Amino acid sequence: MSSVTCTAPVNIAVIKYWGKRDTQLILPTNDSLSVTLSQDILHSKTSISANKGYAQDRLWLNGIEEDITKNKRMHNCFRETRALRQRMEKEDPDLLPLSTYPLHVCSENNFPTAAGLASSASGLAALVFTLAKLFDLPTSMTDLSRIARQGSGSACRSLFGGFVAWEMGSEADGSDSRAVQIAPDTHWPELEALVCVVSDAKKGTSSTSGMQQTIESSPLMKERLRVVPGRMDAMKQAIKDKNFQTFAELTMRDSNQFHSVCLDTFPPIFYLNDTSRGIIQLIHEYNAANNGVYKAAYTYDAGPNAVIYATKENMKEIIELIGHYFPSSDEKKSTYFTDPYNVLEGKGFSN
Ligand code: ADP
Ligand code: DP6
Ligand code: CO
Repeated sequence: MSSVTCTAPVNIAVIKYWGKRDTQLILPTNDSLSVTLSQDILHSKTSISANKGYAQDRLWLNGIEEDITKNKRMHNCFRETRALRQRMEKEDPDLLPLSTYPLHVCSENNFPTAAGLASSASGLAALVFTLAKLFDLPTSMTDLSRIARQGSGSACRSLFGGFVAWEMGSEADGSDSRAVQIAPDTHWPELEALVCVVSDAKKGTSSTSGMQQTIESSPLMKERLRVVPGRMDAMKQAIKDKNFQTFAELTMRDSNQFHSVCLDTFPPIFYLNDTSRGIIQLIHEYNAANNGVYKAAYTYDAGPNAVIYATKENMKEIIELIGHYFPSSDEKKSTYFTDPYNVLEGKGFSN
């Protein structure tokens, strides 16, 4: 039996991916850009063992076995990595035929799963990275990102640390749709993220099904696809220049537009709740009190939980501000900020 354990970080997009042009290969309708958060705080930890005595591939997620017979995204990752391993085994007959062994996968997220905190990103990145280690694949991170993309789109960005773009590509086979590091985590060490867990409940509409409903029914999506390319260019420049003003405004605008497109989906999808909206208002008031010079930027994935980007010098004040208006003990607001996953300092991916 061979067994390997690895962890992978989450990434929180500042220009959101929402919509597929190819649902089988997971090819997006637009480029996206994210910040990879420190895996010391938030991560998926995945152990995989290969054993010829196992009856079939199985997955335990957070201690509970999941039925993966219909889980296409996981099978895409198994199929792609097994094919690469098989090629190696053909060239070297001394290698164990691991590509033919059934796999047992055991994964844990140390943060809420399916709650809009990018568990599919860290989870599927951890799956692919662990498979690559188990099979001893010499595959580059770029190629692994293409495989992880077929597990969950956002997972392709979690193979890199720092600031990461997912280039949508134009090839029908997806060969040029992969993640690219824009800048390493060391480029902008003053930038920090605060994760505010508003609710740890599983979302009602998964990202996969939500974005498909948007593609099929939202007229506003056309406008979004028109503005995203300009935002990508401006965001890359803002990161390069460490320009928090532009970074913050683009981040907030893109989050708001993504949630508007969800509202424009028919029937509408609501990922934000009253607390999420309260935090949005609070951040705008906080910035306005600073003569409109941004000190903080919020962003929300497909869930009610806020991620606030700010520079180190202001983070203490922001934590106090949020703690004051949304105290964790206030059950009515169903808000809590619990250690260890509320404050993330630094970013980066390490193997
Ligand atoms: P999120 O906002 O957390 O990314 P999604 O709706 O995109 O939510 O995806 C959640 C799904 O991702 C889970 O239901 C599960 O199928 C998969 N997933 C999450 N974490 C893991 C993991 N560690 N390993 C394998 N699959 C995972
Ligand atoms: C709002 O990557 O979870 O977090 O590709 O269907 O697995 P699938 O969807 P997923 O979508 C993420 C959507 C988002 C924005 C983002 O991370 O860019
Ligand atoms: Co997801």
